[in-house]
Amino acid sequence: MRMDLRRNVSLRNQIEQNGLLIIAVAMALIYWIFDSMVTDQFWTRLLVVVLIFTYGMMTQFLINQRREAEEALQHAHDELEERVQIRTAELSRANEELQREIRERKQAEEQKKKLENQLLHAQKMEAIGTLAGGIAHDFNNLLQAISGYTQLLLMRKDSSDPDYGKLEVIQTSTLKASELTKQLLIFSRKMESKLKPLDLNHEVMQVCKILQRTIPRMITIDLKLSENLKVVNADSAQLEQILMNLGVNARDAMADGGTLTFQTENVYLDRGYTTSMLGATPGEYILLTVSDTGHGMDKETLQHIFEPFYTTKEAGKGTGLGLAIVYGIVQNHNGYIQVDSRPGGGTTFRIYFPVLKSDGTEKSAESKAPADAPRGKERVLLVDDEKTVLDIGQDLLRQYGYETLLADGGEKAIEIYRKEKDRIDLVILDLIMPGMGGQKCFQELVKINPKIKVIISTGASAEEQVREAFNPHPVGFVSKPYQLKDMLTKVREVLDAKMP
Ligand SMILES: Nc1ncnc2c1ncn2[C@@H]1O[C@H](COP(=O)(O)OP(=O)(O)O)[C@@H](O)[C@H]1O
Ligand SMILES: [Mg+2]
Repeated sequence: MRMDLRRNVSLRNQIEQNGLLIIAVAMALIYWIFDSMVTDQFWTRLLVVVLIFTYGMMTQFLINQRREAEEALQHAHDELEERVQIRTAELSRANEELQREIRERKQAEEQKKKLENQLLHAQKMEAIGTLAGGIAHDFNNLLQAISGYTQLLLMRKDSSDPDYGKLEVIQTSTLKASELTKQLLIFSRKMESKLKPLDLNHEVMQVCKILQRTIPRMITIDLKLSENLKVVNADSAQLEQILMNLGVNARDAMADGGTLTFQTENVYLDRGYTTSMLGATPGEYILLTVSDTGHGMDKETLQHIFEPFYTTKEAGKGTGLGLAIVYGIVQNHNGYIQVDSRPGGGTTFRIYFPVLKSDGTEKSAESKAPADAPRGKERVLLVDDEKTVLDIGQDLLRQYGYETLLADGGEKAIEIYRKEKDRIDLVILDLIMPGMGGQKCFQELVKINPKIKVIISTGASAEEQVREAFNPHPVGFVSKPYQLKDMLTKVREVLDAKMP
């Protein structure tokens, strides 16, 4: 069918192309027949016929020529059109590619800048942390002396003594001061976190109960807690502190009322996301969002909020430690914190905690201090570069029946231990001392007696870290400023422990 059609078409073309020629031949033949009936001038007729025929042929030839030229032109035009279209498409594709590259480069530059800013901020916080940690550490030693002597004096005095009340005030002030240094130590990450598997929702509800009682009624608390929230490895008290500090700040920001929202959810941070968070690795996280509809913050304030003692509140209202502590705790939990805020537009804090892997469960040992401090008769070598710490320790241990030897540094301790090792039952060793330092001293002591019993005392105790350094030798730890009772309990505990 299609073949026939094509043949028909070509026949028609043939007729069309040679149309004039055919008409000319036909006219010549008609003339011939007509004329032959009228005259008999053969040569004249032949000439006329040939002339008509030649004319037809030439005209037809010219027409065909022109048609072919037109067709060629049309063809060339079509081809050109097509090429122009292809080229235009190519150009617009290249243009799109270029636009995309420009966009990507711009994004990469913005991200680089963001990361640089984060790095600068992290370095600044690190420096402040070191400074604050150092101050807190020295302060702790001083507080240890004040608190120790006060406790000793209180032990010797009767409650009817006129000085008794004053001494108690000194003692409670010391406790408050040591609370402050503790907070600085949390910020500088020198405070240990007691991590255990936790349900963040539970902590949020716990804190909300307290907040509900303490914040004004015109502030509504809204909870959006995910039902199947994964488990985090966290320090319960520290998590509550984060929630309280953020909650209290939100309250302060909403003097005329508003909404405080706590939200929890499981999230997965992919590489695309973590590349814009300094030091973050992709993986599963629990996202805690705390937001308020309060007065918000300007850029200048935002840059400083995590610094200790930075506050915009009037004297007596803010300590400037709230967010510094939040920052330190989040860092201690290997988490990340972000904040979004603008003046008049409320504030949102986002905290990402890594999800606890199912095999990573940890047990936490909770010990209770006994009602009264235990006594003993053993001989204890006290090692500390602070004379007051040595004196207090000596006083205390003697009061509870122990004998004491004192060394004001690692070198001295080794010298004494070498001479008296059979008569020394326990060494209480300060970790941070000038000279050889506690850790080196410990290693030397273990060389002299592998079964030596030691308590490490340290002001800045990141206990897990320290414990690691003394592995596998079992030692006890006390962190300064210690309560005397805790120290005595620990002394008994280590002395009574069976060595492997
Ligand atoms: N939710 C919030 N809304 C507005 N500003 C806030 C918020 N949280 C913190 N800030 C700002 O950050 C500063 C530091 O907060 P913080 O470290 O808790 O110290 P403090 O609350 O004692 O001032 C506050 O003084 C305040 O200016
Ligand atoms: Mg605060």
